[in-house]
Amino acid sequence: MTSARSLDRLELVDAGVVLAIETSCDDTAVAVVAGGRVAANVVRSQAALHAPFGGVVPEVAARAHDAAMVEVVEEALAESGIDAHEVEAIAVTKGPGLPGSLVVGVGAALGLAVGLDRPLIGVDHMEGHLYAATIEGPVALPALSLLVSGGHSELVVIEAPFRYRLLGRTRDDAAGEAFDKVARILGLGFPGGPAIEAAARDGRPDAIRFARALRNQGFDLSFSGIKTEVARYLEGARAAEVADVAASFQEAVVDVLVAKLERALESERVETVVIGGGVAANGPLRERVAELARARGVGAHIPARSLCADNAAMIAAAGAARLVAGEHAVDGLDIEPTRSLVGGDDH
Ligand code: KG4
Ligand code: ZN
Repeated sequence: MTSARSLDRLELVDAGVVLAIETSCDDTAVAVVAGGRVAANVVRSQAALHAPFGGVVPEVAARAHDAAMVEVVEEALAESGIDAHEVEAIAVTKGPGLPGSLVVGVGAALGLAVGLDRPLIGVDHMEGHLYAATIEGPVALPALSLLVSGGHSELVVIEAPFRYRLLGRTRDDAAGEAFDKVARILGLGFPGGPAIEAAARDGRPDAIRFARALRNQGFDLSFSGIKTEVARYLEGARAAEVADVAASFQEAVVDVLVAKLERALESERVETVVIGGGVAANGPLRERVAELARARGVGAHIPARSLCADNAAMIAAAGAARLVAGEHAVDGLDIEPTRSLVGGDDH
């Protein structure tokens, strides 16, 4: 059931048949990995439900997860062609995320684990975002990872499997949160990231020079200032081109993220750079990270957009790695409100 574990890379290991559930935010996701490959990866988005509110409404999200769960599990099993009784372990996101949403996923996973009499592994959501890259191939270590989502933004060095060192994180808003808030200010709708990227295509990235907070200082990030700056700019500008504002905002955020990676590559000896999280789906960010890695002579793992966004295949990948590493399964899971892959206080 297991394969040998490598210490010099992260990979999608063979831990038998693992079914994973991810419900940390507004996607009900279930995946099945079998024999070290993804057999099913189903994501049911709630975006349309939350769009009228301009953001995720926690109570609505929890109810929608609950309503969809059984169907999404069944859909994933059907897609994989694997019978529920062949499942050998269950993995589930234990946090960080919206407590009400997490409880639905953990409850369903616990029910399956008890019902099928199989081990249950709790997975950190950000560790999942990191392991998304392993679905496309092994990640040589040590690696430098930029994990940027709607709730988190952090720069982490992976020294060895499960050995993480935090370089920096956001002191206020996450990068995705900034995209969402600025999209709302610009009237571009929800979720903001894809809307801003689309609007920016018709704009000039150098039209407005927004501040690059903390760009040349340490490894921490800060994105709350730029949202205020965009709002103030719009108040003052008589005929602001939404496309120009979107393009200039996106340019500023991407520029800071890439500058941080570049700084980190100057002081850290790593084999590869890995990006993950919803913001890692951003086209300009992907291009600039690939360019930077090429220029620095390190590898780059830029997962397919669908693997950057929340999904359960990444949770299965991380869960399988922990199973093979001998992590003991648990009888029940406490959901974890921790905010970082490396632990610590909020942000
Ligand atoms: O990882 P994810 O799917 O969920 C969380 O764990 O938060 O990330 C969602 C975030 C949202 O803030 C969304 O606006 C952002 O990722 N996002 C993007 C893009 N696609 C999604 N941000 C910038 N450009 C994109 N193309
Ligand atoms: Zn996420």
